[in-house]
Amino acid sequence: MDIVSKAKQRYTVKSYDRERKIPVEIVAQLQELLRFAPSSVNSQPWHFVIASTPEGKERIAKAADAGFQYNAAKIRDASHVIVLATRVAPSDEHLAAVLAQEEKDGRFVNEAAKTSQNAGRMSYTNLHRFGQKDVPYWYEKQTYLALGNLLLGAAMLDVGATPMEGFNAEVLDQELGLRDKGFAATVIVSLGYSGSEDFNAKLPKSRLATEVVFTEI
Ligand SMILES: Cc1cc2nc3c(=O)[nH]c(=O)nc-3n(C[C@H](O)[C@H](O)[C@H](O)COP(=O)(O)O)c2cc1C
Repeated sequence: MDIVSKAKQRYTVKSYDRERKIPVEIVAQLQELLRFAPSSVNSQPWHFVIASTPEGKERIAKAADAGFQYNAAKIRDASHVIVLATRVAPSDEHLAAVLAQEEKDGRFVNEAAKTSQNAGRMSYTNLHRFGQKDVPYWYEKQTYLALGNLLLGAAMLDVGATPMEGFNAEVLDQELGLRDKGFAATVIVSLGYSGSEDFNAKLPKSRLATEVVFTEI
């Protein structure tokens, strides 16, 4: 099926089939879609925590229990749950690791190319760090690109998904020890297969009209 049909067919799953698990090879593809998401200056300011066991999902569900109960079953009943976390600040170690990986992956034809790439990344990083003072916001935007990749990818792979901003971030950060590592939870995505109680499966999709969201110049 073509990509537009899949994009129109996908919807936010509101209730999961607890018995149906995503095959490992499909999970591996979803992981690659997250890892290969684009990010400004290849900053990759994210970390992904994946839960597939009842215990792991229970830990994540604590963040829904704390004020966002309506999302709790979507976490507990899904096959897999991924927490997309974002760095709250640049670190020299991470910036060096990205540069080293680019070198290892053969991105630099010579030393000048490496120097130039590093200078470009540092320039943007310092613009947001010292100029606009909005690194957490800038970094979080990158994580949302990974979210987009994941949601469209899941649709292509016939996997149901639920993106969730409705969770207690403080509780989740604490439970997963994210803040100690310099990260904060951005969004949770449950993944699996829609269950019989999923009212959203039967509803038509709703989007603003083409002429409303596009201007041709
Ligand atoms: C960033 C983001 C956060 C969302 N948070 C929640 C949530 O906490 N709980 C929920 O049931 N749905 C959540 N949604 C689902 C949206 O309500 C849904 O994507 C939107 O209504 C469009 O419907 P569709 O995904 O079925 O096409 C979220 C979606 C996005 C993209």
